[in-house]
Amino acid sequence: MGKVLLLRIICVVVLNAPRLRFFYHRSLKKILNHAKSQPQFTSLLFYFIYLFFVHIVVSHYIQNNYTIVDCFLERVKKQPNKPFLLFKDETFTYQDADRLSNQAARALLQNGLVKQGDTVTFFVTNEPMFVWLWLAVFKIGCSAALLNTNIRSKSLLHCFKCSGAQVLLVAEVAQPFQRFPMKICETCDFVNVISLACLKWRGNYFVTSYNFFSGTGFPKAAVISHTKLWRFVMILRSCGLKSDDVLYVSLPLYHSAGLAGVTGAIDLGITVALKRKFSSSQFWDDCRKYNVTAIQYIGEIMRFLCNTPKKPNDRSHKVRIAIGNGIRANVWRDFLNRFGNIQILELYGATEGNIILMNYSGKIGAVGRDNFFFPFALIKYDVEQGKPLRDSTGLCIQVPKGEPGLLVAEISVRAPFLGYARDLQQTEKKKLHDVLKKGDVFFNTGDLMLIDKDGFVYFHDRIGDTFRWKGENVSTNEVADVITQVDYITEATVYGVEVPGNEGRIGMAAIALKDGHTFDSEGVFKHLESFLPAYARPRFIRIQSSLDVTGTFKLMKAGLVKEGFNPSAIPDPLYFLDDREKKFVPLTMDIVHAVLSGKIKI
Ligand SMILES: *[C@@H]1O[C@H](CO)[C@@H](O)[C@H](O)[C@H]1NC(C)=O
Ligand SMILES: *[C@@H]1O[C@H](CO)[C@@H](O)[C@H](O)[C@H]1NC(C)=O
Ligand SMILES: *[C@@H]1O[C@H](CO)[C@@H](O)[C@H](O)[C@H]1NC(C)=O
Repeated sequence: MGKVLLLRIICVVVLNAPRLRFFYHRSLKKILNHAKSQPQFTSLLFYFIYLFFVHIVVSHYIQNNYTIVDCFLERVKKQPNKPFLLFKDETFTYQDADRLSNQAARALLQNGLVKQGDTVTFFVTNEPMFVWLWLAVFKIGCSAALLNTNIRSKSLLHCFKCSGAQVLLVAEVAQPFQRFPMKICETCDFVNVISLACLKWRGNYFVTSYNFFSGTGFPKAAVISHTKLWRFVMILRSCGLKSDDVLYVSLPLYHSAGLAGVTGAIDLGITVALKRKFSSSQFWDDCRKYNVTAIQYIGEIMRFLCNTPKKPNDRSHKVRIAIGNGIRANVWRDFLNRFGNIQILELYGATEGNIILMNYSGKIGAVGRDNFFFPFALIKYDVEQGKPLRDSTGLCIQVPKGEPGLLVAEISVRAPFLGYARDLQQTEKKKLHDVLKKGDVFFNTGDLMLIDKDGFVYFHDRIGDTFRWKGENVSTNEVADVITQVDYITEATVYGVEVPGNEGRIGMAAIALKDGHTFDSEGVFKHLESFLPAYARPRFIRIQSSLDVTGTFKLMKAGLVKEGFNPSAIPDPLYFLDDREKKFVPLTMDIVHAVLSGKIKI
């Protein structure tokens, strides 16, 4: 304990000399690199030291009210002419960004739109104005609520209410907004206002940010405090990005991953190439155009990239590192084979969660390792009941090593769970009480993970991504992987739908086909038959022209589940797996009636 205290004192002293901070960050990176090259035990030790240092740095920042805006201003001073943002054919330097965000702050204040302490809602797609306004809002001392720009109507209204915002910033005033009882401003107005006002603005810096994300039901607003934001910011640094890297951000900025990208870039003082919306056909051209060296991904992005037609210049790019979450092992292999030797850094962490795991050690497939900085447990989960199993004393039961269990992370001062804005009920829902001992509180991640004998943690499944049919657990990801092995099926979303009179949910898949291909009902049946047990084969197939990507994935799935398999309500072609005919047949109302009445056995 004495040694830890001493180390802590040394760190604080070092950190208090601002000039030494840079040196300090460098040593962090060294420690981490060292950790990677070491055998098991030493690697673990170094990783712990690393986590400890990050913890100290973050605590120091918090104690001194050093915010991401302070960090940004430091960068502006040090490297005013370095490009900060590349968007289409425009380049904005750090100085430009400072000027534009000051103007935006000025504009917001001048029109009496906001005052310090307000919450400003963003309904803006990826564009430089998003970043200027975001910085502006924090410079003024407001909170930002970032809305998913794909949500509509009721959900949108719900989000807005949750955030308690007074002002809404939109890229375009669309229909649903007109009913909203508040101040609405279009970002394009700011372009005009901004070019008029040019005054320096230095305000009190920000309080919190809300990130809305979609799960099942209404989107929830995760509260991102200052502390939390710093933890996100540190991710990029931890991944070993250097000051001359260029980061490509095609994930939405309202998404915590996109935000972690831009704030992490500020922290490192690097350049961001921003894309309005992910496009698999433009991805590599953009990387070449902007000399991108680091990319961010979510699992779907990697799959879409692998599904594009092969090109001779697939490997001519400078990308050396990919940071993200949710890549499947087979996609990962394809990706490397096709696009060259790119280091893939898989992270695990929920927007609202209190735990971040990182694949720092190079263990293939692992997302992280057991550690005491984010104390967590894997507990037995009852899929049918939809809740953790408890023993006779009412406590949860830890799974043995090698078996999947629900990942829960203890809520503590060091790993707080801030919950959802103005939604106590949802916040409570994510908390589990009396987990390992009476009176403790854990955050329920909703993810099933497993841990091997060496302490490496592997992602197994999302709870919502498992459904039960005929007493069996079906992993939607596994089924989707099998379906997309058919070479002309580019995407598959698998989910379970309820059939009245039957227990559990039956499998259904929404798929998209490569252009010019038709659905081969016999071939697909044969493929599924050879790779999947009968209960896991999707009984219904829905063919969509394309599945929407990024950010909205879970929301889209919830929508599909709700729509079910009613041919009279769904415009897309629907197929039914006929196991006597051994093929898929077009789904008709007659078949639906026969299924519902039990005439066709499913
Ligand atoms: C990319 O790199 C090339 C050569 O190194 C350079 O000529 C070009 O200007 C760079 N492009 C950008 C957008 O920085
Ligand atoms: C973990 O990291 C190693 C080395 O950086 C990498 O080869 C591997 O692909 C990563 N695992 C995953 C699942 O991303
Ligand atoms: C399905 O999952 C539950 C909870 O994880 C488990 O108790 C049950 O044994 C599983 N069923 C099968 C058939 O694997």
